[in-house]
Amino acid sequence: MQWRHKDLLGLEELTAEEIDGILEQTRAFREVSQRTVKKVPALQGKTIVNLFLEPSTRTRASFELAAKRLSADIVNFQESSSSLAKGETLKDMARNIEALKVDCIVMRHASSGAPHLLARCVKASIINAGDGAHEHPTQALLDLFTIRDKIGKIEGLRVLFVGDITHSRVARSNIWGMSKFGAKVTVCGPRTLIPYDIGSLGVNVSHDLSSSIRECDVLYLLRIQHERQRRHLFPSNREYARFFGVNESLLNGARKNLLVLHPGPINRGVELSGDASEGPQSLILEQVTNGLAVRMAVLYLVSGSGES
Ligand code: NCD
Repeated sequence: MQWRHKDLLGLEELTAEEIDGILEQTRAFREVSQRTVKKVPALQGKTIVNLFLEPSTRTRASFELAAKRLSADIVNFQESSSSLAKGETLKDMARNIEALKVDCIVMRHASSGAPHLLARCVKASIINAGDGAHEHPTQALLDLFTIRDKIGKIEGLRVLFVGDITHSRVARSNIWGMSKFGAKVTVCGPRTLIPYDIGSLGVNVSHDLSSSIRECDVLYLLRIQHERQRRHLFPSNREYARFFGVNESLLNGARKNLLVLHPGPINRGVELSGDASEGPQSLILEQVTNGLAVRMAVLYLVSGSGES
């Protein structure tokens, strides 16, 4: 596939064909992780920086491992140990990183739009690993890959997102991606956690979990983003779990071959009970495995075409 962008900032700006191309590349790389020697020389000589300015373990590790499996060199910068803590601006920091002749910067930031700003001021390719409540494109790509791998298509599927839609970059990237492939998306949660204008993205809104669950093919649970909420938007975790938490008995009322997804980290007992997270319908660990292959594909396509 011919990748024609400098950066990967979101799924909003990609076409269904471009997303398809990334998913095809993902399939090719998934096989690498099943070998005894889990490494290919595809990005030998390329340098990648993980610039994570918000706490993250799994996404950072997934990008790091993906880069290593492609034989790239990778350096980690984290908020607590970075010179931003000493007062340097983001732009200056990025320019200094670029002076080291890096090919690609993988960036996570608490503010929406931060990777877009960086993309305009450096020549290195930027991959958005999550910006505020805006987008988390590699998460949505791995979700699309996981669903398509199981069901064979996205078109026509009824997908239900449950939880903190307002603060979820995972939901937003997935809504863009799934809609481009013709899925029917519904969002469900307390009124305080659903943006009033979400309908403009072409999704339906529900506040009744048990009836919506019976009518969906894919159930996607989201974590309550306490760190992004500026005030209490529901009385307690216990009350949230009572009305919007998913457990085995709710799943018993759903379609037999329902798929359950969650981006992690899970707050067990809040959005999802322990038994439901480990049940036969859960694809949560497959999402993690596929995430590595998706990130290999994205690093390969983006660094392969980026100027250095
Ligand atoms: C997600 C994120 O950071 O947006 N997690 C992740 O990428 N591992 C979802 C979340 O934090 O709830």
